Amino acid sequence: MMCGIVGYIGEKKASPILLESIKKLEYRGYDSVGMSTIDDRIKILKGAGRIDDVHKRINFHSLNGNTGISHTRWATHGGVTDSNAHPQTDCKGKIAVVHNGIIENYLELKEDLIKKGHKFSSETDTEVISHMIEDYINSGKSFREAVLETSRRLQGLFAFLAINEKEKDKIIASKHRCPLVIGIGSNENFAASDVVSFLKHTNKVIFLDDDEIAEITKDSCKVFDITGKQKNKEISQVRWNSEEAQKLGHKHFMIKEILEQKETIDRVASHDRKSIEKIAKMINDAYGVFFVACGTSYHACISAGYIFSKITKKHVNIFLASEFPNFSHFLTKNTLMIAVSQSGETADVLEAVRVAKEKGVKVLALVNVMGSSLMRMSDYSLLLNAGPEICVLATKTFTSQLALIYLLAYTCAGRYEEGKKGLEDVSKKVKDVLSEENIQKIKNLANSLKDEENIYLIGRGLSYSTTLEGALKLKEVSYIHAEGLAGGELKHGTLALIERGTPCIAIVPENESRHDILSNIMEIKSRGGYIIGISNRNEDVFDFSIIIPDVEMHPILMIIPIQLLGYYLALERGCNPDFPRNLAKSVTVK
Ligand code: G6P
Repeated sequence: MMCGIVGYIGEKKASPILLESIKKLEYRGYDSVGMSTIDDRIKILKGAGRIDDVHKRINFHSLNGNTGISHTRWATHGGVTDSNAHPQTDCKGKIAVVHNGIIENYLELKEDLIKKGHKFSSETDTEVISHMIEDYINSGKSFREAVLETSRRLQGLFAFLAINEKEKDKIIASKHRCPLVIGIGSNENFAASDVVSFLKHTNKVIFLDDDEIAEITKDSCKVFDITGKQKNKEISQVRWNSEEAQKLGHKHFMIKEILEQKETIDRVASHDRKSIEKIAKMINDAYGVFFVACGTSYHACISAGYIFSKITKKHVNIFLASEFPNFSHFLTKNTLMIAVSQSGETADVLEAVRVAKEKGVKVLALVNVMGSSLMRMSDYSLLLNAGPEICVLATKTFTSQLALIYLLAYTCAGRYEEGKKGLEDVSKKVKDVLSEENIQKIKNLANSLKDEENIYLIGRGLSYSTTLEGALKLKEVSYIHAEGLAGGELKHGTLALIERGTPCIAIVPENESRHDILSNIMEIKSRGGYIIGISNRNEDVFDFSIIIPDVEMHPILMIIPIQLLGYYLALERGCNPDFPRNLAKSVTVK
């Protein structure tokens, strides 16, 4: 399950804080929402639908009390119904639980509980947790012990928060392979799937590790291992600020995050030189470098293949994280895995890392979220420093990944200064790409393409990876079918689909493949295709052109007009760009 959970305990009324905080996690799932607070007793409001709509219907603010938990759901076990929304409770409604993850052995646990007389009221796997806690409490355990015992018996992935009417002054949190972070405030504490949820209130955090249980009161947070032994945990400070996690006057996070690329590339350029050099040495010394990632991050890895080949003259292997376990026999103790992930929570990436670590492989993470599971599992990590990315679609983190890959490749080749300067140069040019004039032009293009059913993208060399990422952007946000392909592959199949007027975006940088890609464009043009050229200069063959400055690191610039096109196509077609249907930002299931 890809869900968001949050808990608050303090001196203020919990429900408005919880509502605001759970909205920040809506990117993790958005088919149902619920909240529970403890006033004189536990009260619950929940329902299927988007947070704002459900709130209009049932008014979460009517819940009183200073302690509570909330949940935004992305259904896996049980349909999208009011009763399957979280919190889930025990038989008497005195214990409430919100959960992110999947309990793999829930059927056998449920059967056991039913035999003992427990009554279930939902189809969720989560409900076993609340009944198990109830069961342990009935057998004389304290609330914390009951959560401990329960956690020991659960198989699968979970992060959950529980509250109990009989021990009103605490929230108990438990984590196993799903993210959970505790926020330490003054006279108030938080627990959530993602720090952005409570960043407005505090940036002091405790990152829970797997198989830890936290007992959170308004002025303390005690952490225990799975055997019940108390642990000393460090309080870290997160550098993001809460403003970055707000729309700040923009209509959507997507456009805000696209525009932020004016600053994010520079942040990569100003990475500490020593750590870049240290990592570059590791890459040079490794016997076999394996890049693994999913989705957009995978496209950044495909670019890495070309970038390392050209700049470092080094072969690197690129794998989809979900496919990687098939190739694990190529790993040796001298292999370096580079796991690339915005969230650092993608289950397939974490699984690939686990497989690699079993073989004694060293893992380097390129990640945006500090304290994420990937960062903590890896031997080394470099942060993208792109700030929180809330829109389900990855935009600014993709270009930051590319920037970091460039910087590493140049450093591996002993040309750190050149790499840094290249990034600073690109960063200035991002501002030109995002000019008002270009944006208006792309809006017009979106208007003319809004009724299309298919869009094709072609490029060669590095621009091939731009077409893959461009196609992903267009389809996930506008639901228009889009396909990216290497120019040379056109004649092996896709050319059969080109008809009069079929839109085709061609990526045409100023480099050695220009001549060849122009020939491929002619193949489309002569079948009546409509050519949208993204290039540093116009060509007669373009029917529509978007002019982008000529830079060595062109993939960072070339993707931006396609991100914008996706955004405006979504608006033209009445789609919500921040929350595409059926997709979630943090995919914590395999
Ligand atoms: C999801 C998101 C994508 C993202 C992919 C990988 O599918 O919607 O935007 O590219 O996961 O996520 P990661 O956090 O590992 O980069």
